Amino acid sequence: MEASANVRRVNLSNMSAVNAVQLSHLLMRDCVRAGSVAVDATAGNGHDTRLLAELVGPSGQVHAFDVQQEAIAATAVRMRSAEIDSIVRLHHAGHETAAEVLAGEGVTSIGAAMFNLGYLPGGNKAIITQPATTCQAISSLLPLIEVGGLVTLVLYCGHRGGTEEAAAVISLTACLPANEFATYHFRPLNQGGSPPQLVAIQRHASRPR
Ligand SMILES: C[S@@+](CC[C@H](N)C(=O)[O-])C[C@H]1O[C@@H](n2cnc3c(N)ncnc32)[C@H](O)[C@@H]1O
Repeated sequence: MEASANVRRVNLSNMSAVNAVQLSHLLMRDCVRAGSVAVDATAGNGHDTRLLAELVGPSGQVHAFDVQQEAIAATAVRMRSAEIDSIVRLHHAGHETAAEVLAGEGVTSIGAAMFNLGYLPGGNKAIITQPATTCQAISSLLPLIEVGGLVTLVLYCGHRGGTEEAAAVISLTACLPANEFATYHFRPLNQGGSPPQLVAIQRHASRPR
């Protein structure tokens, strides 16, 4: 993921032990700076929100979105127990509204956004992220990403609709302008079943005027 000389290198020396979620965390640890603003586009049980809050620290802010009140409540509990709730703003709203919500909060740029797609583990498996709204969220958040900033998307193909959503995300991100973004697709090639995959997008240059 090294896209410019001042971005630190990710250590992948133990890559065989790393799945897509862990790899997204590794990349975030390498990219997110203290004091920045980050977005968790799918709060779920709050694991990614917690990571982002720890990385941005007390001088930063995390905006976390989820369509399910159950997920917002679970994330709130996790933040309170880690005593990082003051860093996190929870939004019971779809990520397709994130850019609009951030604009309303005066946020003009973000250092990172995490998407962990699919359904809430332990929750209602019928409530899943959808290709159209996921792509809308990606497209509306990318203009806010700072140079050096990172977007990760963990994709799941094991549930109904997951394969189509993964295809939509890959086709959108594969077409991003190479003079602004570096995009990557990581997937295990020799595992059975449908292991999660990761798409990562890093901005390496500002938008040409
Ligand atoms: C795999 S879970 C996220 C896991 C979470 N990141 C964590 O660390 O625990 C996916 C979540 O996406 C949420 N979701 C579905 N559609 C959404 C949308 N349009 N906007 C935001 N969240 C959505 C689901 O409610 C679910 O909680």
